[in-house]
Amino acid sequence: MKVTVKQGNIEASNADATILFSYEDVLIPTRYMAAFDEVSRNLLRQMIDAGDIKGKAKEVQLVFLPDTRRVRRLIFVGLGKKSEANPEKIREAFALSARKVREMKWHSMDIAPSMMGLDFPTEWIISMAVESMRLGLYRFTHFKTEEGENIRHTVELTAWIEKEEDLKKAVQAAREAERLGDAVIFVRDLVSMPSNEMTPKAMAREALKIGEKRQSIKVNVLDEKEIKKTGMHALLGVAKGSREEGQFIIMDYQGSESKGAPIVLVGKGLTFDSGGISIKPSENMEGMKTDMAGGAAVMGVVMAAADLKLPLRIIGLIPATENMPGGLAYKPGDVLKTLSGLTVEVISTDAEGRLILADSLTYAKRYKPAAVIDLATLTGACIIALGENVMGMMGTARELKEKLMHASELTGEKIWELPLWEDSYEAIKSDIADLKNVGGRPGGAMTAGAFLSKFITGYPWVHLDIAGPSWLNKDHPYTPKGASGVGVRLLVQMLKNWSAIGDE
Ligand code: BES
Ligand code: ZN
Ligand code: ZN
Repeated sequence: MKVTVKQGNIEASNADATILFSYEDVLIPTRYMAAFDEVSRNLLRQMIDAGDIKGKAKEVQLVFLPDTRRVRRLIFVGLGKKSEANPEKIREAFALSARKVREMKWHSMDIAPSMMGLDFPTEWIISMAVESMRLGLYRFTHFKTEEGENIRHTVELTAWIEKEEDLKKAVQAAREAERLGDAVIFVRDLVSMPSNEMTPKAMAREALKIGEKRQSIKVNVLDEKEIKKTGMHALLGVAKGSREEGQFIIMDYQGSESKGAPIVLVGKGLTFDSGGISIKPSENMEGMKTDMAGGAAVMGVVMAAADLKLPLRIIGLIPATENMPGGLAYKPGDVLKTLSGLTVEVISTDAEGRLILADSLTYAKRYKPAAVIDLATLTGACIIALGENVMGMMGTARELKEKLMHASELTGEKIWELPLWEDSYEAIKSDIADLKNVGGRPGGAMTAGAFLSKFITGYPWVHLDIAGPSWLNKDHPYTPKGASGVGVRLLVQMLKNWSAIGDE
């Protein structure tokens, strides 16, 4: 989606469609709309009276304006009650309108923040529009070789700014929203890619490419030999069952003017989780190509942080491997020695995520981080507990959790906290080693969190289980069904807030 920001009157536009919002309680909310009504001989008023425009949330209505100036078509998107308009509803409405434009096979659309009847700053409206339209129009077309379904259809957006003094901020907001959208789309593409293409080495190559294009990011990749030398035997244990070599990807973003200790992000990068010797049932196993969504999200956040020039140092750690039942595969009953020195009895080779994260969380310590956040498609139990739209949050740092909750309210990426209580620690006690990697079915998301917490020493830490929201089986307005790129917008928002506090 190409985006242009112009100063001027939208009435000079000749786009295929102009997007407007309607509200349940204020159906003609701006003087511009009143003007449209007038030039169209009260067409809007008549449609409202006939009940064709109700302003209900997610209602999309097309209006054709005959013989009027240049604006020919209006798309009215309902937002519900005006007083209840919030960023999430606005993003949904913009995304739905962009998808309508594509459905109609039109190529250009216009918005004018001052015409939407919203009480938000112009640059906010622009940024919500650009971000959500772009994300709403996303499709994973990499493997579509046949034309059809209008696969290559493109849509352009022009945003019209009324006052010259608002132009600079609006252009900046549009560019930033584009960069953030790029990062989310990068993650969606990586997660959608099947495991025969998106191998651990391919993930490492993607990270190196990100670094090559940006001076502020240094990328270093450890191969299995180096992983072994470092002492990450839990990661190595999981990688052993596959012919694809495991990789430990380190991305180091150093923003200019960054002060203070770095923030470390850790992402589970299981490019395919067959379950290993504790093999998964074949039904839905294809979905396990997405078990690297946490790792991909970390790559996306580091990329966005650099492109938005955040004044922070951010380290991304991505243990990347397959979990396969090869001849050298680790087996139930095996004991692995983690980088921390703690030993783990393997009960199920399918609880592999916590093993590779354990080593990574210990590795994180060498950066003396101000905070560590891990993202992982860790447990099916988290999906059962919270549903497919919600991340499970666990951790030891109240303030960091609050920062994430606050960012989540702004971005609409839902988080719910789960407790780390004694029962969960009891469940992972082993008879022969320090810990076992499974604590039974009850409270599975929390025993996984409790397991990870055993490897946290001396830094604030939060774990986000993204098994549910990383892949959606249902379409959402700005998150089409499939890979969502969850975590990127959330963490970028949190990091932006973080750097703003640093400025004070
Ligand atoms: N990658 C899975 C978790 C998962 C399940 C992610 C569904 C996305 C959708 C993880 O490695 C796993 O297999 N977890 C097991 C843990 C169990 C063996 C304790 C699970 O959730 O069943
Ligand atoms: Zn597994
Ligand atoms: Zn897994």
